Amino acid sequence: MRSNALLPLWPLAVAAVPNIKRQTVTETLIPTTSFTDFDTYWTQLYPWGTDHNGGARMSESQVAVADGILTITATPVEGEPPATNGGVEYPVNYLSGAIHASQTFAVAAGGGYDFSAEFLATTTYGTWPAFWLTAVSGWPPEIDMAEWKGSGDVSFNTFNTSSSVATHDVPYPDADEWHSIKVQLRDENGSSVRVKYFLDDVEQTTHYGNNYIGTALYLIINLQMEGSSGSPGPDYDVTYSVRNLEVLSYQ
Ligand SMILES: *[C@@H]1O[C@H](CO)[C@@H](O)[C@H](O)[C@H]1NC(C)=O
Ligand SMILES: *[C@@H]1O[C@H](CO)[C@@H](O)[C@H](O)[C@H]1NC(C)=O
Repeated sequence: MRSNALLPLWPLAVAAVPNIKRQTVTETLIPTTSFTDFDTYWTQLYPWGTDHNGGARMSESQVAVADGILTITATPVEGEPPATNGGVEYPVNYLSGAIHASQTFAVAAGGGYDFSAEFLATTTYGTWPAFWLTAVSGWPPEIDMAEWKGSGDVSFNTFNTSSSVATHDVPYPDADEWHSIKVQLRDENGSSVRVKYFLDDVEQTTHYGNNYIGTALYLIINLQMEGSSGSPGPDYDVTYSVRNLEVLSYQ
């Protein structure tokens, strides 16, 4: 044990130091190199398994990493049993891929995160790539940081309930070129989270998520098919690639 004599307190010197506001610490939670160190940061499939709300069943075999780029390939298949979600059956017409971050994210009071990455995303009818956050327990929160529903647009959505959802669709130019998405989550007032969306570094819209503070979120990247993008989807392979994904914490 250290003697108190080694810990002088200098009360006069301390009193002379001006009040310093608590600094927000910026911490890199997921670095831009994460796909090459896949098992440290990522887990295969959806957090709940292989199926969700569309025509693709997720399989590790459809996910590849090369030169730091994640590529998910959707391949038409026959003979798969249907997927069931929320009492609805979806014919499974593809094998595709989904991954989720091994850690979860909860905006703390006074805190926030930046999620960013570059995407080569298909906008073909019947393809439904996405980059999104959803509640670990219960639902919502859900923040669709980017989803492409086969219309030629990219969609940004924040859900308060299934019927109270802020949506913003913008034309997605040159889908065969890389585009960047950045989404900033910040504490607005101790209960709501402010969500700001950027496409190619240009601010697109701001949404507010009710009671999002302190609620844990999964980060998911997937290439779902059909579902909200319509059917039938393409009868050939399609891909979705992601690079330079980064998650910064400000809490
Ligand atoms: C969601 O709730 C927040 C906070 O109450 C509110 O500011 C926002 O307008 C709501 N969004 C929608 C789409 O109702
Ligand atoms: C927090 O901010 C949101 C968005 O501005 C607003 O709708 C909501 O009423 C605010 N809640 C409180 C408790 O101030």
